[in-house]
Formats: sequence, structure tokens, C-alpha cells
Amino acid sequence: MKQTGIANFAGKRIWVIGASSGIGEACAKAFINQGAKVALSSRRVERLNAIAEHAKLAQTLVIPLDVTNRDQLTQGYQALLKTWGGLDLLLFVSGIYVPLRADDFEINIAEQTIEANLLGPMRAVALALPEMLKAHSGHIAIVGSVAGYSGLPKALAYGPSKAGIINFCETLYYDLLPQGISVHMISPGFVATEATAQNDFEMPALITTEEAAKEILSGIQRGEFDIHFPKRFSGFLKFLRILPYPLYFWIVRRFVKI
Ligand SMILES: NC(=O)c1ccc[n+]([C@@H]2O[C@H](COP(=O)([O-])OP(=O)(O)OC[C@H]3O[C@@H](n4cnc5c(N)ncnc54)[C@H](OP(=O)(O)O)[C@@H]3O)[C@@H](O)[C@H]2O)c1
Repeated sequence: MKQTGIANFAGKRIWVIGASSGIGEACAKAFINQGAKVALSSRRVERLNAIAEHAKLAQTLVIPLDVTNRDQLTQGYQALLKTWGGLDLLLFVSGIYVPLRADDFEINIAEQTIEANLLGPMRAVALALPEMLKAHSGHIAIVGSVAGYSGLPKALAYGPSKAGIINFCETLYYDLLPQGISVHMISPGFVATEATAQNDFEMPALITTEEAAKEILSGIQRGEFDIHFPKRFSGFLKFLRILPYPLYFWIVRRFVKI
């Protein structure tokens, strides 16, 4: 049994959460260009409105919300259902990254990261699932990160939040495949965005947001569960995680300035 893709995005009802910048903005624009109906969500409403301005009338919905607020997500989803009557694809992109190390481990930042990066997608999925299960169709796509594959320096909260996403997607897949609902786990390497602009090191295999969006859209089109890119970097990290720990830690220490 293989899960289905979305061959053509035209007319599909898509909710992009985290659409105001970076990877989410590029995906939202690509969906709009391909004729999809796109609901745009995140906190910065002026940026969502600017994206909506480039779309046809009634092609977009602007639904400002904070993913850490369950009521706002619920109201947003209800507004979407009222207007469109259903949802074909939930794309959860929203996320935060604050570098965090053990010698300055701020629990507030850890809590905010888990709230936004792990509980946020769980809240959105919990909202979308009942209708999708009733219809025996739909797509759930969540942006995690290659940083979730195994422990990396400076990611004391971000890494666990993204490792949680990988496990969440894998576990969803078992239950949703027989129900006709597709799960797409998206693991990007380095993408040039506002979030990575703060990095003080040279990012290997850095790609643009447009390249990332292209990978995401084509992965969803093909019905892939494991959408990871760029392969030259994500493939290397996938290989590292099957190594015995002493070798894994040695290689990471050698390549990453710690
Ligand atoms: N860039 C990379 O190299 C890279 C690599 C691997 C994975 N990722 C993942 O890709 C996703 C997008 O990251 P990006 O690099 O494109 O970063 P970005 O440009 O900073 O975009 C982050 C998005 O998340 C939204 N967001 C953050 N907190 C939110 C909240 N509490 N409620 C609602 N929306 C919220 C932001 O919108 P508002 O500020 O308007 O709310 C923005 O739209 C993240 O999940 C990130 O972890 C990025």
C-alpha cells in the first residue's frame, strides 16, 4: 500500500501555517502560482496581506494566529471550513530556532521552542484530522529538520523539538495510511531565511527558499512520506546517524566548530 500524492494543486484547498516568511512564504507563493486556494497563517498579518495581494480575488484567506494559542488555531480552522467547506492539505511550516547550549541552558527558550515547534503542529493536526478521517482523504505535511535526525551542537531545544516531529510523523503514518490520508515529513537542510541569517558559520549546501519550496511541492506531488533535501547534505546526515556513537560524535566534532 502506498500513500497518494497531489498530482495537480489547482483548486486544492491548502492551509500554510508559517506563511509570512522563509520556506513557508515560498511554498505559499508557489501554491498560489499553481492555482491552489491558499489560507495564509502566522502572527505578522501585514506580511500575510502582502502575499495575498499577489493572488486572484478569493484565492487566498488571511488567518492571523499564533500556533502556541489553541483557541486562535481552532477559530482559524473554523473560519477556513466555513469558507471552503474542507481542507485538502495542511502544511505546517512554522517554527523557531534559538541557538542553545548546555552552559547557558535557558528553560524559557526550551519551553517556547517545544510549544511552537512540536505542540504547534500537534494542535493543528488534532484540528484537521476528524474531517479528514470522515472523508478518508487529505494530506498532512509537517516541516521538521535534519537537526532532528540525531543530536547536533547548539540545538539543545530545537533538536529535540524536531526529533519529536520525526517520531510524530512516523507514528501518524501507521494510522493514517489505511485511512487514505497521506503524511509528508519534510526535513530540510540549510535554507537561506531570516532564521538562518543569524548563523555565525558557513552553512554547507545552503539552498534558497524557492529551491526548498520546489522540493516540498514535488515531494507532495509524488506522495512521498520522507521529503528531505538537499540530498547531498540530508543524505550525508542520514548516513551519520546509522554509525556507532563514538564515530558519530568524532565526525560531528571534526566538522562542526564547537
Ligand atoms: N532555514 C533553514 O535552514 C531550516 C532548516 C531546517 C528546517 N527549517 C524549518 O523550516 C521552518 C521555516 O523556517 P524558516 O527558516 O523559513 O524561518 P522563518 O523565515 O523565520 O519563518 C518562520 C515562520 O514561522 C512563523 N512562526 C514562528 N513562530 C510562530 C508562532 N508562534 N505562531 C505562528 N507562526 C509562527 C513565522 O511567522 P510570524 O513571525 O509572522 O508568526 C514565519 O512565517 C521552521 O519549522 C524551521 O525549523 C528551516
